[in-house]
Amino acid sequence: MSKRILSGMQPTAQLHLGNYLGALKNWIGLQDEPGAENFYMVADLHAITVPQEPAHLRQATREIAAAYIAAGIDPHKSTLFVQSAVPAHAEGMWLLSTMAQMGKLERMTQFKDKAGKNAERVGLGLFAYPVLMAADILLYKATHVPVGEDQKQHLELTREIASTFNTRYEGEYLIQPEPMIIGDATRVMSLQDGSKKMSKSDPSEKSRINLVDDTDTIVKKIKKAKTDTEPMGDSLKSIEGRAEVKNLVTIYASLAGISQEEVVQRHAGTQWGPFKDALAEVVVEHLAPITKKMRDLLNEPEEIDRILETGNQRACEVTESTLSEMQDIMGFWRV
Ligand code: TYM
Repeated sequence: MSKRILSGMQPTAQLHLGNYLGALKNWIGLQDEPGAENFYMVADLHAITVPQEPAHLRQATREIAAAYIAAGIDPHKSTLFVQSAVPAHAEGMWLLSTMAQMGKLERMTQFKDKAGKNAERVGLGLFAYPVLMAADILLYKATHVPVGEDQKQHLELTREIASTFNTRYEGEYLIQPEPMIIGDATRVMSLQDGSKKMSKSDPSEKSRINLVDDTDTIVKKIKKAKTDTEPMGDSLKSIEGRAEVKNLVTIYASLAGISQEEVVQRHAGTQWGPFKDALAEVVVEHLAPITKKMRDLLNEPEEIDRILETGNQRACEVTESTLSEMQDIMGFWRV
């Protein structure tokens, strides 16, 4: 069977280095896998599981699409689309929600993190978030889903939902997707706290580097990044247990395209000032062309909209076919 690759990001805020290294950067190479079909969406239906300002949501949706293209997603190789423009996602989610167990949804760590102590008051959408994600994936019969480590649990649930559907209706209808958690930077941590992942919802701007940050901002954020009092070690083993240091090394290695061991050895014994200067240079060098391309694209929003329109049509074709197959299997009345 040929590979079908699908992934997405929420247009909730600016994309950060975690989104880029954990997901987007890895998608680029996947487009050239022989026989693979790639789908990348802007997950705006997921974004509204927490309140969004409408004008902001619309603009952020375009910005995410621009970031995809600027980073190297080629609309000639991949289908780029907007989740809300493909009605089967919401419809498919309802069908699948009848197969998702409440107990399992309650155990999702992302739900627990986002709901906090307020679990009784959060919207049903936040609770059902992983079921919509399952619909996103299963409707495309995706075989592979490239994401960061934090999405692994949602993918396990997607596999379970597919399996429940297949068992209940006695056939191999839905495909259980494989998570693709690629590279070394599958969990980029906050620059301010090595025990927390870098996140769009962290109140501290200093905790993350956004894809659109200018050089000055990047340099400042890296200078302020938390480290410890010891200088760099001389091997990867020697920095074990130093979460903040390990995180900076991971970012460096991933952007420079070298191993973490090499980063440590090149900077063995270095104090944090000079190391941070070198890291800032690597980050800026890598991100600047992407940021520039993104800005250029956003100056021509019609071009982005045209690309999304074409992608939406393709996504509608694929999903309508799976949705009507599911409806038939489930026994819905049709003329
Ligand atoms: P979102 O927007 O929260 O995250 C987008 C991608 O970025 C990865 N990521 C990270 N990777 C490494 N380190 C981090 N600190 C970090 N923070 C985020 C996430 O793992 C993700 O790959 N629920 C999805 C969006 C989605 C989706 C889908 C993905 C909706 N439907 C279907 C795949 C297939 C999400 O987490 O978006």
